[in-house]
Amino acid sequence: MEAINASIDFDKRLATQDIAGSRAHAAMLAAQGIIEPNDAQAIREGLLTVLSEIEGGTFEFSTALEDIHMNVEARLKEIVGPAAGRLHTARSRNDQVATDFKLWTRDQMDAAITGLEALQKALLAQAEAGADWVMPGFTHLQTAQPVTWGHHMMAYVEMFGRDVSRFRDARARMNESPLGSAALAGTGFPIDRDMTAQALGFDRPTANSLDAVADRDFALEFLSSASICAMHLSRFAEELVIWSSAQFRFVTLSDRFSTGSSIMPQKKNPDAAELIRAKVGRIFGANVALMMVMKGLPLAYSKDMQEDKEQVFDAADNLMLALAAMTGMVSDMSANTDNLRAAAASGFSTATDLADWLVREAGLPFRDAHHVTGALVALAEKKGCDLPDLSLTDMTSVHEAITDGIFDVLTVENSVASRTSYGGTAPAQVRAQVSRWKEVLG
Ligand code: ARG
Repeated sequence: MEAINASIDFDKRLATQDIAGSRAHAAMLAAQGIIEPNDAQAIREGLLTVLSEIEGGTFEFSTALEDIHMNVEARLKEIVGPAAGRLHTARSRNDQVATDFKLWTRDQMDAAITGLEALQKALLAQAEAGADWVMPGFTHLQTAQPVTWGHHMMAYVEMFGRDVSRFRDARARMNESPLGSAALAGTGFPIDRDMTAQALGFDRPTANSLDAVADRDFALEFLSSASICAMHLSRFAEELVIWSSAQFRFVTLSDRFSTGSSIMPQKKNPDAAELIRAKVGRIFGANVALMMVMKGLPLAYSKDMQEDKEQVFDAADNLMLALAAMTGMVSDMSANTDNLRAAAASGFSTATDLADWLVREAGLPFRDAHHVTGALVALAEKKGCDLPDLSLTDMTSVHEAITDGIFDVLTVENSVASRTSYGGTAPAQVRAQVSRWKEVLG
């Protein structure tokens, strides 16, 4: 029974939150005249002693005492005597654990936001440096149109910005105190739930005691926000794996974030990127696992809910690690601008610019321009050259309205510079977005 029932091995991570919750509760009980002020004082001081023992590593956790709540209370009794027994007046472990776990998860939401903002700053620095470095933009991982390095970096700044806002939304929604909901029905003691809510940094007490002890949607919102964030990290990590390969050589990752091979001396492996790519698996796994735990539970508390913590702990640990590693890797990496440009200029990447020129300068309908451009690409392919290498005679043999001016739009620099629509890849647009984000991030 002890082996299946006890949670102390993992919920000891809630010690700080448990003690903060208990100290707030004791102060409120005294303020409301429910316990004597000197008992509350002894409890509050004793709890600080317990905390210092836990932080100092001298606290002996007992599996027989099941969880962090009972472990702390039992030790408090040893320290302050019978007064400790008054702490659990007008509360239950059900509102206690919901409060502790909310406080812990709230801290992780804040940590995720801090980690994401650091990553965004690293990306901004890359974007600013490379606002006009030309690289291929892809669809289907096939060369599509030239874009700028800065534009690609800023795409992730946007994604991580939405991740930040998801954590912020979730934090605002979850920031209500369950404390005082007691086991499920509330209590007959004249407690002051606003007082404990305020002491613990909650915006207000929860409005329904059954809901407060029975739901873990705040943990699920953390996990789903973390899953989406990890998915973004994973996509970027995948790009870094591809980009750092010998076939692409778009970026060089620093030695700090790569490893050698034990057998192949030439190898430099993007291990950090690969591990970040993999983290989404366990984080999304945690999200699914907790959804399945919760989905069939009748109200209010069931012991199934004890299974919430390990999922959130593991997901949070790995998300923070992935964010820190990605931030380091992005700060350290260097773009190989010559390779980026050469890749951007190959694969007929300015074919769209050519078609647009035919529409603009020769008055062709876009569909016809698309067709003419296709013929020119076929011709270049046959000649084994790229679009800018075709002669004007080659061009006019396909369509007589083509003039010399067409060569202006066939360079990758002109291609990106022309994409000045709001949110487009033109360096001026990228710089505008960099300044906007710099202001947002302070
Ligand atoms: N260890 C428990 C958990 O994590 C604490 C709440 C126990 N409540 C109870 N009525 N058994 O959920």
